[in-house]
Amino acid sequence: MSSIKRAADLEEFSAFIAERTGLYFPREKFQDLELAVSRAAPELGFTDAAACINSLVTSPPDKELLETLAAYLTIGETYFFRNKADFDAIRNIVLPALTGDGKREQTLRIWSAGCATGEEPYSLAMLLDSCSPALRSRAVSILATDINSKALREAGRGIYGDWSFREVPEQIKATYFTKTRDKKLHLLPRIRGMVDFSYLNLAEDSYPSLLTATNAMDLILCRNVLMYFRADLAEAVLRKFRAALKDGGWLILGPAEGPLTFSDKIPGLEPARLPGLTIYRKAAGPRPQPPALYAAAAPSRTTAARTRPPAPPAPKKRPLEEAGGLYRAGLYTEAGKELEALLAAEPQNAAGLVLLARVRANLGRLAEAGKLCAEAIEADKLDPLAHYLLGTIFLEEGRDSEAGMSFRKALYLAPDHILTHLALGNLFLRGGKAAWARRHFKSAAALLKRHEQQDVLPDSEGMTAGRLEEIVRSALTRFTDD
Ligand SMILES: C[S@@+](CC[C@H](N)C(=O)[O-])C[C@H]1O[C@@H](n2cnc3c(N)ncnc32)[C@H](O)[C@@H]1O
Repeated sequence: MSSIKRAADLEEFSAFIAERTGLYFPREKFQDLELAVSRAAPELGFTDAAACINSLVTSPPDKELLETLAAYLTIGETYFFRNKADFDAIRNIVLPALTGDGKREQTLRIWSAGCATGEEPYSLAMLLDSCSPALRSRAVSILATDINSKALREAGRGIYGDWSFREVPEQIKATYFTKTRDKKLHLLPRIRGMVDFSYLNLAEDSYPSLLTATNAMDLILCRNVLMYFRADLAEAVLRKFRAALKDGGWLILGPAEGPLTFSDKIPGLEPARLPGLTIYRKAAGPRPQPPALYAAAAPSRTTAARTRPPAPPAPKKRPLEEAGGLYRAGLYTEAGKELEALLAAEPQNAAGLVLLARVRANLGRLAEAGKLCAEAIEADKLDPLAHYLLGTIFLEEGRDSEAGMSFRKALYLAPDHILTHLALGNLFLRGGKAAWARRHFKSAAALLKRHEQQDVLPDSEGMTAGRLEEIVRSALTRFTDD
């Protein structure tokens, strides 16, 4: 790799990769980085690694290119029921806590983040299926995401060779798999249908979000992923996971990714030290400090404090603005308190009602969120956002026809609202109305063209126009002539 001015270019490339994917290649791993890029170069259309690196660091990065590259940079090693201690804890501690008295009616929401070829989320699906009939009858949603689209496509097929079964008892194979002609094992459609696979880059994408169904989780598994991340970026992911969990929800990391590797100081995530297992639980109580991620925006604060007299206290923000900031930082309980105080003084404040509805929805309290939307609509009948939000809540509750009505009202009031077009597209797709779905996806695509890629769209929980464009593009590939 003579044409790479080694240290300098690789340094820059490594920093670029960390920013875009979270993956950390320090100096000691430059050789691995070079090797991965030289393997990826032909598929990316470059003659060698040097050309590929030079192009990536000098011109605006192409998302598809990065996605292909990520498949070479990441380690997709996985197998069914990997780390038995985790699955024992899920069966014996987590599920009983989540399905105890009074919680029977709620949908159980699980997310396998960094799922590779699907063995992990499918193990969860089999575990749930093998549990008591009471648990089996509950609505369960398992979301499985990864940055590697190739792995996701394989996961969707559900066909596995011997290597994926290295710790699996024969009885599991006999119960849940059928043999293919080439002696592989094919997972039963019933179990495959329990998992929804989707692309999500933990370093870039916006979550939690109703839009990607990454909100109000009961359990998140992110095992053997963050150990490859730069520490600050791993901690940022952990903070977002905290926001994505319901109060009392659980997070399981890989055995080498314990609170000793990362911080024990993620506010509101309490580590429990169990043998062979790294598990956190989201505290339900108040969390006094905002996360360091947001505080870090003010550089060299400590030096400044030493040399200058203390600044006068910042003027108090307006309650709605304050609550919005807390909401964006994922501090839903605190945002809720701020909004309750505001609404006690101004019960008809439509924007306050809508924000409180979003807070409740992110905590999984959908019925309350729906009621608040109805109150917001009562207070301001012309607010499209309240109708849109109510639609997304109905959608989560499986009330598709009511969702459709709310989205249509939102669109009547704001015909250019991109997220409503996207939501209607998904709703029609789910209902088998392809032509209508396609029409709304096309409208969303056209409206997105008015934005710069990096524009964060209003009401989108931080989603950029570029990311939404990808979602729309991927939705449109279902229709043959697009
Ligand atoms: C070693 S596998 C872990 C699979 C599974 N969780 C397990 O423990 O068996 C790591 C996975 O993390 C994914 N990954 C790496 N960086 C990611 C990112 N920025 N966003 C999403 N997934 C990522 C990789 O593509 C890979 O599939």
